[in-house]
Amino acid sequence: MCFQKNLMLLQLLLVLSCCMSSQVVVTAVLPGRWNLLLQNSGVSAMHTTLSHTGKIIIFDRTDYGASQIKLSPTDKCRNDPKDVALVIDCWAHSVEFDPSTNSVRPLEILTDTWCSSGAFLANGTLVQTGGWNDGAKVIRHFSPCYSAICDWEEFPPQLAEKRWYASDQILPDDRVIVVGGRKAFSYEFVPRQETELAFVPLPFLQQTNDHKVENNLYPFLHLSSDGSLFIFANADSILLDYRSNSVIRRFPTMPGGSRNYPSTGSSIMLPLLAAENFQRIEVMICGGAPSDAFTQAIAGIFLTALQSCGRMVITDTNPKWEMETMPISRVMGDMIILPNAQILIVNGAQRGSAGWGLARDPVLMPLLYSPSEAVSQRFQILSASTIARMYHSTANLLPDGRVLVGGSNTNTDYAFNGVLFPTELRLEAYSPYYLDSSFSALKPTIIRFYPTTITLNSAFNVQFSVPTSPRSDLQISIYAPPFTTHSVSMNQRLLALSIINVKNLGGSTDLATVKSPPNAVAAPAGYYLLFVVNAGIPSTGAWIQLQA
Ligand SMILES: *[C@@H]1O[C@H](CO)[C@@H](O)[C@H](O)[C@H]1NC(C)=O
Repeated sequence: MCFQKNLMLLQLLLVLSCCMSSQVVVTAVLPGRWNLLLQNSGVSAMHTTLSHTGKIIIFDRTDYGASQIKLSPTDKCRNDPKDVALVIDCWAHSVEFDPSTNSVRPLEILTDTWCSSGAFLANGTLVQTGGWNDGAKVIRHFSPCYSAICDWEEFPPQLAEKRWYASDQILPDDRVIVVGGRKAFSYEFVPRQETELAFVPLPFLQQTNDHKVENNLYPFLHLSSDGSLFIFANADSILLDYRSNSVIRRFPTMPGGSRNYPSTGSSIMLPLLAAENFQRIEVMICGGAPSDAFTQAIAGIFLTALQSCGRMVITDTNPKWEMETMPISRVMGDMIILPNAQILIVNGAQRGSAGWGLARDPVLMPLLYSPSEAVSQRFQILSASTIARMYHSTANLLPDGRVLVGGSNTNTDYAFNGVLFPTELRLEAYSPYYLDSSFSALKPTIIRFYPTTITLNSAFNVQFSVPTSPRSDLQISIYAPPFTTHSVSMNQRLLALSIINVKNLGGSTDLATVKSPPNAVAAPAGYYLLFVVNAGIPSTGAWIQLQA
């Protein structure tokens, strides 16, 4: 018993790296593991998102021809004379993956969703916008269910502009803003109010568009703490007040190259902190490619991807990019905010560009990034996967803290033979070090929380237990799962909440009283994953519904 206790103390000492006051950073002493979850997901995971039923919604495009999963027998086959691959199509192009059984269920989409975007509404319904061809102006809903009956609902074309390679952000009023897309230098709202323009021109998207290589598609969007929208395209960024259609800020150009499709990098908002009243917004963008990577790759020259990341506090008076160097160059990486506020950078390639067959040298090793460590100690190289995740691959945090990795299809159809990178249907999970059993003594378990529906700007209670005591650097966070495609994690945000009080209920059980976010700008209403983090080791997440 005593020996065990000493061992735990020793682990604690190993784990806690020094003494940051607000945010203790854990050094990953272990590189983590990969596990294959499913050999054949049926549909390649080009667009993915975690719904509040714990299932992952996956879709690619309707005109790929045969996928590897049939529609369910009760579905009618698609019959689309204009389909470029298969007019009568009985294959599914969307599935729902259930991580509790590692199985998929086919879903039916009728119009093309290729290279589209999405966001969750406050009630948990996924709004999906745009795509290609007959799908370019379509809005679709998916209302997640615990049973196996929910499916896509498609509406007649409603978007004012074609939205192919656009990005979405959920707004504080529970509407979605859709920004950009190929040849769409504008934004629009879903749903639109009668008094609003069908679409609003945004010259910034023209200015950042080099007509030979666009490099500004799938712009990075982040909702800032004043309610306006940070938009990053290519190497430049603005703060847009979409309510008055005015650009209220222009930020310095980010050095190093291009960051958006097809020179695809990735962007996140670093965790928002109650200690700063959720006012300070820091954006981090990593990877990308030289501005001519796409044209060079078409000519058979695969340029080395960018090795830099930049961080900028967009709410500062004089914001500037602080540049850092990753251990490995990366184009088409995905960035996931882990429950303990560390960042995982995963997927992608070391050379080339996004686009069909335009990248080489897959980066099999994820990176862990610890935002509040000293600059030289932020990156750590993690265990390598054996599966290349090139163009059209995705990553999503699962409630238990694993990261689901899927997709990769750099071919014009589903191709399994005679190509450099076969279409990838395997789903795998990366388990970060914090899931290792050597940390189980530190790992909190959420027992319950109440009230069960949490309103903004109110106190709520979280009952949890941790095998070891005392607690160390306790944090309680909520996480909005992103809609992920093309290395863009739309709407991803983590908020570290203010803990008002922690009371021991006897034994290893504690009751924390926590303050919810103050308003829908800090946290748009919707479903979030609640995590208790002890000494950097997170609990499994519990779904909470945050109401305005
Ligand atoms: C959620 O809200 C949207 C927009 O009002 C509505 O269309 C949808 O049916 C709602 N979903 C559920 C599950 O109530």
